[in-house]
Formats: sequence, C-alpha cells, structure tokens
Amino acid sequence: MGWDENSIYIEEVAERLQDVGIKALSIHGRTRAQMYKGQADWAPIARVKNNPRIHIPIFGNGDVDTPEKAMIMRDELGLDGAMIGRASIGYPWFFRECKHFFETGTHMAPPTLEERVAVAKRHLEMSIDWKGERLGVFETRRHYTNYFRGIQHFKPYRSRLVSSDDSADVFAVFEDILQEVDPDWLPKFGDRPNEQDTYRPSTCA
Ligand SMILES: Cc1cc2nc3c(=O)[nH]c(=O)nc-3n(C[C@H](O)[C@H](O)[C@H](O)COP(=O)(O)O)c2cc1C
Repeated sequence: MGWDENSIYIEEVAERLQDVGIKALSIHGRTRAQMYKGQADWAPIARVKNNPRIHIPIFGNGDVDTPEKAMIMRDELGLDGAMIGRASIGYPWFFRECKHFFETGTHMAPPTLEERVAVAKRHLEMSIDWKGERLGVFETRRHYTNYFRGIQHFKPYRSRLVSSDDSADVFAVFEDILQEVDPDWLPKFGDRPNEQDTYRPSTCA
C-alpha cells in the first residue's frame, strides 16, 4: 500500500494507475517496510474501492485464509474479488471451500485421501515434465507436508516421500498411502492449522 506506515499513498496511486489505463488492480494490505509482519490492513483497500472516481475492478489481498475472510472481502468491503496466496499453497481445495461457503453458508468436508494423493501425484508428474526427473523430485518434496497436513500417523510416509530420490519410489509411497492410511486419521473441518507462518518469502508485493 506504500513504503511504510507514513507513506500509504495507495488511494492516489490507484487513481493514477487507472488514469494510465490499467484494467484492474489487486492490492496487498501491508507496506513494504512491514513485510509479512502483523496483520494485513484491508481498510485502505476498501477506501480505494469506495472512491467514486475508481471504476476498475479492485481485488483485495493479504491473510485471506478462511472462507469467512473471503466473504468479508466481498460482502463487507465490497471488493470485486479476493486474491488468495499462502492459504492455497499446498491446499488448492481452498477455492472450492470458499465457493461452497458462499453458496451454502456451510463448510465443506476437507479433501479425501484420494484427492490429496491425486494432486500430489499430478504435481510431481508436472514438475518432472517441466524440470526433469532429478529436480522435479527434489522440488516437489517441500509440498508434501501441506498436501497431507493434519493426517495422523503420517510421519513415516512423509519421511519416505521426502527422502526418495527416484520418482518411482515416490509413486510407490503414494500407492502405500492409498492402501494403508486409515480414513479415520484424516483431518476434520477445523483441524487444519493456520498455515500463514509456513511461507514467508523475502520480498513482498
Ligand atoms: C511463496 C510465495 C511467492 C510469492 N511470489 C510472489 C511474486 O512473485 N510476485 C508477487 O507480486 N507476489 C508474490 N507473493 C506474494 C503473494 O502474491 C501475496 O501478495 C502474499 O502472499 C499475501 O497474500 P496471502 O496472505 O494470501 O498469502 C508470493 C508469496 C508467496 C508465499
């Protein structure tokens, strides 16, 4: 929104950006100096949206990690959409959970084991296609914790997933997970810890 708390010029910047022709704007509710510390402040984002001079779509970003928060962005702040970052990393089901909540006002069940394995497999396959066997296996490792977060007694499987150098071994672990993991060990709604602390990139938009 600005460099630091004394230089929050997003309202003026948004007008200028619109004047030079941008078609939409997504705003993160922190300053550059703040990095990822503290909470995102959505009030300046709402002020941009409520500025009568602004007619381009305004999207809000920062700390949306529950469907309820996405709904606040839409219904209370009147924004045109929410941009979701960390809540969806390793948890692509976040979007359907928001959609379901918007449509029904209820929380949908967390993803099944089959869905989790299917996504992890596809991620690994695509990573290998893109970066090759060695790098693909290596770079996908960091995502397994999130895909399988909250499943009880999962540690031995995670250890195998992140220590196998050969993709065939990783795919074999996926099969073992499907065969052996008890559905009763899966997280229920609300078990999922807040993952915002997991990802803190060194730069912030
Ligand atoms: C791993 C990671 C990589 C990111 N890379 C970029 C990037 O390349 N460009 C950018 O503008 N923002 C980047 N961001 C910032 C996000 O777009 C987003 O503004 C930020 O994570 C806050 O939203 P959130 O609270 O929903 O995560 C990145 C964030 C994360 C966690």
